[in-house]
Amino acid sequence: APGPNFETIPSTVEAIRSQLPDGLKNPRVGIVCGSGLSGLAASMKEVIEVAYDDIPGFAKSTVPGHRSSLAFGFMGDSQKVPVVAMLGRFHPYEGHSLSTVVYPIRVLAALGIKDIIITNAAGALNPEIKVGTVVVVRDHLALPGLAGMNPLLGPTFSSATPRFLPVSDAYSPALRRLVFLAANELSIPWSDFAEGTYAWVSGPTYETPAEGRFLRAAGADMVGMSTVPEVLAAREAGVGVLVLSLATNMVVIPEKYRSIKEEVEAELLGKKVELPVQEVVSHEEVLFIGRQKGDMMKGLVEKIIDLIPAS
Ligand code: ADE
Repeated sequence: APGPNFETIPSTVEAIRSQLPDGLKNPRVGIVCGSGLSGLAASMKEVIEVAYDDIPGFAKSTVPGHRSSLAFGFMGDSQKVPVVAMLGRFHPYEGHSLSTVVYPIRVLAALGIKDIIITNAAGALNPEIKVGTVVVVRDHLALPGLAGMNPLLGPTFSSATPRFLPVSDAYSPALRRLVFLAANELSIPWSDFAEGTYAWVSGPTYETPAEGRFLRAAGADMVGMSTVPEVLAAREAGVGVLVLSLATNMVVIPEKYRSIKEEVEAELLGKKVELPVQEVVSHEEVLFIGRQKGDMMKGLVEKIIDLIPAS
């Protein structure tokens, strides 16, 4: 895979800014809209959309349920904050290199964002996290990243970037506080929220029962195929990170395997066998919950942005 393409960032930034009015040239907050969550941009005012097709260095997003543009606009009630939302993101499973996946994050950082709110749809591994819960991510487990697929492999973002970036504090406590303050102001039930660890896997396959059990045993509450490369690139660029992970499905981890050996034996002995129902995850289910919870997430993100202290 090609290494990071830092050299083209200034020209990409220039190409984007040339399409924007002065007030939107320096967005303060970035938003990444996950599967089925592109409606987050609907609460922005004076919106200017720039299609990924028209941005040098941006790839095409190929996943159903994802759009493909940057939306610039203003958000908030008490303050008018210039923001930029990524409608659609790039995933390694689409065949994109990690440097392509994180390129938009680096461009957003170069446009001047100070904080980024990253949303995703993910599977719940923790049985206490119900479908529809918003999980405020406080830690991650980057399986591909530990094993050679780290987006920060290669040259550093700038001479100011440490070679060995500490990420033990990647998820800003100050931004996480704002989620709960916003939820309180909006009277969203407290039970709609949880905190947890997100395990990043490359996909595109959903996990086997053994893999689900493995990730759970390793301390993960959620599992998904995005976000972590973006978090690492944002932290490298000094951007504050908030991740909201919407639980769109439970990861099926059966306690007990179906024994074909016992079933056949029973059958041979002329006994009646009850066949277990096998559950499988579907992308439609993921998109459905995304749409169902879309309005709540939209209001929440808008309120959080309103609560971010002006710098
Ligand atoms: N995204 C939504 N559900 C998922 C799952 N179970 N595994 C990985 N990514 C997901």
